[in-house]
Amino acid sequence: MEQTAKLIIDGKTYELPIIEGTEGERAIDISALRRDTGLITMDPGYPNTGSCESSITFMDGERGILRYRGIPVAQLAEHSSFRETSYLLINGELPTPDELNHFSVMLNDHSLVHEDMQHFFQNFPRRAHPMGILSSMVNAVRVFYPEIPEDTSQEAINITFSRLLSKVRTMAAMSYKYSKGHQVVYPSHRLSYCANFLNMMFDSPVKPYEIDEDMVRALNVFWILHADHEQNCSTSAVRLVGSARVNLYAAISAGICALWGKFHGGANQAVVEMLQDIQDGGGDPAPFIARARDRNDPFRLMGFGHRVYKTYDPRARIIKQVCDTVLSKLTYSDPLLDIAMQLEEVALKDPYFIDHHLYPNLDFYSGIILRAMGIPLNMFTVMFAIGRLPGWISQWKESVEDPHWKVHRPRQIYQGKTERDYVPMGERVTKVS
Ligand code: CMC
Repeated sequence: MEQTAKLIIDGKTYELPIIEGTEGERAIDISALRRDTGLITMDPGYPNTGSCESSITFMDGERGILRYRGIPVAQLAEHSSFRETSYLLINGELPTPDELNHFSVMLNDHSLVHEDMQHFFQNFPRRAHPMGILSSMVNAVRVFYPEIPEDTSQEAINITFSRLLSKVRTMAAMSYKYSKGHQVVYPSHRLSYCANFLNMMFDSPVKPYEIDEDMVRALNVFWILHADHEQNCSTSAVRLVGSARVNLYAAISAGICALWGKFHGGANQAVVEMLQDIQDGGGDPAPFIARARDRNDPFRLMGFGHRVYKTYDPRARIIKQVCDTVLSKLTYSDPLLDIAMQLEEVALKDPYFIDHHLYPNLDFYSGIILRAMGIPLNMFTVMFAIGRLPGWISQWKESVEDPHWKVHRPRQIYQGKTERDYVPMGERVTKVS
């Protein structure tokens, strides 16, 4: 029997259908609300609003569950590669050996960046933030490869996806090399997706890079954990911009811009800056916890809290373990890790953090790993962006194929001035401050 919710407005009862997902989540379908009642709903920041039905990622914030296409992220982190997880997200199923091989060939074939695009890199100021460069360059790729959407065959679409996954990785490494004033390293067909990235970042004519399989594994896990997170801010940006039927590159570029913010992907950089501030201040986290608790201080403990997780972020648990492996490779210990662990311990016992259900999120430990890999601070959010690409691509694909597709266009409740007449310039009274 169809479930409904009853809504009473001015004494009149309206029945609204209830939609139920495969994991038992329920939503009141208000798609006919304005037509039937003249009213809209108000939900600033959308914490109570479902924007779509999706079969890509399932999260349960109360129980700390995260699954891609039904598979727990911990299993993928243990057994899969980022390449395979990307395939799973985009295509819905794990690949057969042949499918994975074909995907690898496509990633290799499309990994080079058009030589003419290199001039763009040279003209960005050296101090430009790599996220700004990346979002511009992704948009620019479209100009060089205009085939989509004119050709919408499955193979053409797959080429576009591979092109994005592979070129964004190449461009990220290129932007780093340019920022250092060093020679660009080209991708190699002999290396896997993650090993290739590390090689493009760190190989140099004077010091050849030796591939370290533990680092390659850590990067695979890092990117698997970032690969999708259902309707977060940047993914919603990709879907919203994509809903106007712009090309995929423009939609992804919008996602990169949204991710840049310090309350979203920019948090991994902000966490390390905060840990550094704590260390510079003598290493005691207590004043920072006190500031985070103070309602009159806008300061927030970076890497803590999540819109959906009201328990320990399952990704944070896994990344903390990877931290141990990566740090054990270093010949020195990172003092920021000790500060992070102290901060976590104090915060988890603090009544403010307990009452507000604030636990470490993925970004809390991810910066420590990136530092240990030698990734510079301003590239941290770029690392997040490369990891989130398969998620953005699969969410864009799903939204484009959605039979209930609509241009995203929320409404508002206007609270401004009511109608008034235009005042000619000469009759306006000068304001005295
Ligand atoms: N430090 C101190 N207080 C916090 C924090 C924090 N990190 N996060 C939330 N709160 C408090 C907030 O002040 C508010 O308190 P009150 O109800 O007393 O006014 C309450 O918790 C709810 O906050 P909110 O902003 O309504 O909650 P939200 O769900 O919109 O916030 C968040 C989610 C991630 C923006 C927030 O927790 C935050 O700013 N965290 C720090 C930034 C961060 O680590 N971002 C990375 C998120 S995970 C990676 C990703 O997917 O992007």
